[in-house]
Amino acid sequence: MKKIMSIITFVLMLTVFTAGGNMVHAETADTPAAHSDILVAYFSATGTTKGVAERIASVTGGDLYEILPAEPYTEEDLNYNDSSSRTTIEQNDKSVRPEIGSEEISLEDYTTIYLGFPIWWGEEPRILDTFAEKYSFEGITVIPFCTSGGSGIGRSGSNMETLAGSGTWLEGERFNGNVSEEDLQSWIDGLQ
Ligand SMILES: Cc1cc2nc3c(=O)[nH]c(=O)nc-3n(C[C@H](O)[C@H](O)[C@H](O)COP(=O)(O)O)c2cc1C
Repeated sequence: MKKIMSIITFVLMLTVFTAGGNMVHAETADTPAAHSDILVAYFSATGTTKGVAERIASVTGGDLYEILPAEPYTEEDLNYNDSSSRTTIEQNDKSVRPEIGSEEISLEDYTTIYLGFPIWWGEEPRILDTFAEKYSFEGITVIPFCTSGGSGIGRSGSNMETLAGSGTWLEGERFNGNVSEEDLQSWIDGLQ
């Protein structure tokens, strides 16, 4: 009888141990990360870059962060035919740093940032310069992307890399506003 009891105890202990072991393993394997290590940060005055940013976030599973100007750009501000409009003045003066109004973000847990913006007068809007100077990109690969009426990304990436002074900055790419998720995926695959 004693022998039977000790066999039962042994089997019970084995069951508890095995079940416990499995539980720990399942928890480790199934617990999702707090958030992605990919961030898609973008500024978009009229929504075109926003659309591309959302598609990049969709194909990469990245988090989205909108760089919002503290003072929003009005239609008048965006008039590139007016030599005294806000954007013309800002783009003509490389020292202008429009204030960012969106909540500060911690970049600590990100290893890759897709950084999107429209092309203004051939390069990045000055608010991207504010963003580049505001954060540390240490240990982060920054991949610029832009939309435009036709102009390429030009020196935007290297301009921001110089201002940031940290991180690994790729040259980046210009897209049409209606670029598909499939085309974005092939671009991303080609970056590796
Ligand atoms: C002030 C201003 C300057 C622009 N300069 C250029 C330019 O130099 N080259 C170009 O191809 N498109 C230029 N564009 C067009 C924008 O790059 C294009 O419409 C872009 O897709 C807008 O993106 P968004 O909707 O995300 O703001 C300019 C637009 C604005 C408002």
